[in-house]
Amino acid sequence: MNTAKVTAEAIRAMKGRGVKVAALTAYDFPMTRLLDEVGIPLILVGDSLGMVVLGYPDTTHVTMSEMEHHVRAAARAKPRALLVADLPYQSYDTVESAVSSANRLVAAGAEAVKAEGGADIAEQVRGMVASGVPFLGHLGMLPQHVIEEGGYHVKGKNEPEHQRLLADADALVKAGAFAIVLELVTARVAKELTQRVPIPTIGIGAGPDCDGQILVTPDLLGMLPWYSLKHVKPKLNAAEQMRTVVKEWKLGVEAVKR
Ligand code: KIV
Repeated sequence: MNTAKVTAEAIRAMKGRGVKVAALTAYDFPMTRLLDEVGIPLILVGDSLGMVVLGYPDTTHVTMSEMEHHVRAAARAKPRALLVADLPYQSYDTVESAVSSANRLVAAGAEAVKAEGGADIAEQVRGMVASGVPFLGHLGMLPQHVIEEGGYHVKGKNEPEHQRLLADADALVKAGAFAIVLELVTARVAKELTQRVPIPTIGIGAGPDCDGQILVTPDLLGMLPWYSLKHVKPKLNAAEQMRTVVKEWKLGVEAVKR
């Protein structure tokens, strides 16, 4: 097994080598360590943290200190994987705030950052990359815009959205991104983007033709039974297994006579 540390450059090079990127999210020490032990090359401390760990209704509530806290926990696993962290909502509105926020996450242990947007954040991306922080793009459905967009809608269904995705992907490549997450993009447009850009596309609900796939780990493991998603079929029913084990343990404790 290859034990060399995974860098942003190594993720970028996977496209040329024809190796798919299988990426997952983690928010703490044990999950990062487990994912790393099975060889996941890119681990994202996503701001999905807000919903899947912190109980917020969406990602716009996640603060920089919450991200730092969870990045520190994940980084203590010292993964071989590239550890990427999401820049939280409104923490990259200007070049100065983007560079300063990215460097805070790096100080907490991140090795690259991700933010949502294309041409609109190209200057910020250029600034962060110039300051030495590798950048992962995120196009398509942008969860930090869920309130103004009125929900989680698939992107690329009409020509203006299609053209905007192409222009945004080009802008991110030009600004120095090492890969791009495509979230809820039509399979046809995701395939076109994948053929167009020289860096890996990593899809989530964007069809099979991306250069890699990413999932929110608790969704993959069936840890959140209170909602279901079209783009992910849980491979485990962790929530039900936990309930069963806890119920049995509780009955065992209660059965012991004084
Ligand atoms: O925050 C997150 O977990 C993400 C993934 C959905 C890619 O951005």
